[in-house]
Amino acid sequence: MKNKIEQYLHEAEQFAENSAEQVESFRIRFLGKKGVLNDLFEDFKKAAPTDKKELGQMLNTLKNTIQNKVAELRESTDTDGHHLELHDLTLPVDFAEAGTRHPISTVRNQIVEIFARMGFTVAEGPEIEDDWHNFTALNFPPDHPARDMQDTFFVEHNKIHGDIALRTHTSSVQVRTMENNQPPIRQIFPGRVYRNEAISARAHCMFHQVEGLYIDREVSFADLKQALLVFAREMFGAETQIRLRPSYFPFTEPSAEMDISCNICGGKGCNICKYTGWVEVLGCGMVDPNVLENCGIDSKTYSGFAFGIGIERMTMVKYRINDLRLYFENDVRFLRQFESVY
Ligand code: PHE
Repeated sequence: MKNKIEQYLHEAEQFAENSAEQVESFRIRFLGKKGVLNDLFEDFKKAAPTDKKELGQMLNTLKNTIQNKVAELRESTDTDGHHLELHDLTLPVDFAEAGTRHPISTVRNQIVEIFARMGFTVAEGPEIEDDWHNFTALNFPPDHPARDMQDTFFVEHNKIHGDIALRTHTSSVQVRTMENNQPPIRQIFPGRVYRNEAISARAHCMFHQVEGLYIDREVSFADLKQALLVFAREMFGAETQIRLRPSYFPFTEPSAEMDISCNICGGKGCNICKYTGWVEVLGCGMVDPNVLENCGIDSKTYSGFAFGIGIERMTMVKYRINDLRLYFENDVRFLRQFESVY
């Protein structure tokens, strides 16, 4: 019986026909119901118990060899039984449909790219933030309304270590940067922020900002204004005008809000600019000396500016989108409209 198995093994190893019929008859001869292997297994039952171990192993080897051979030969034959030597290079290509970048990502990348050209590098910070980085270091008084449950999503109230919350703005990353670096600092911080607001066409509980920070000796409000003007013109075209309106943020003094001339109606008035000719796109100001000191930067030697751009708002103006909710619904009919190189 051993000899027989060895002979079959040899035969199986040598077998090299590759038309579909020949491979199939080879398979039936060995693996079919009345095939060689089943016969051998019948013989095996009658074999002497002392031989069984060795015979069993040999039979398994034979069976595996044949199965592998069949699989291997089948792969190299096509359905008509012809040996495949070349792939058909004239077949039409099956194009995979590529997605498009989300408009929020496109505009964020554009903002980053424009400021990168002005020498700003990019940094990121955590979305779950402590009270110090989101509020206290930024000069928010203890009873400031933004700390209220109505505005902030708290993760944990902790009297000893301070509250933990979803960050309400990317200004928290300013603090982290200033704590770990000395001026000159020229960085932008893109990221997602959260506020406890009812969802509507104009407000959402989750949105995106790009924060900017520039600290050095003798940085002035004029530097801020010029940087923002260059940015606005790069983003919306050379004709774009900017307008700074006095405002208030606890962490900047003086503070301002920046409007750009409405590029949709060209200043004549439309529903995006609410018939004013201007659209608000960011908050900004000179970093309050208290904030510099809180973060270990000498406010007598250094000064700086900061700004926070709302990406959703900017994208609305850029692409004339009139409902914030569209950004998060992921309806492909909406998303497919934005093809972009960014
Ligand atoms: N953090 C402010 C906001 O979320 C924006 C801002 C950033 C204002 C930096 C001034 C300076 O509204």
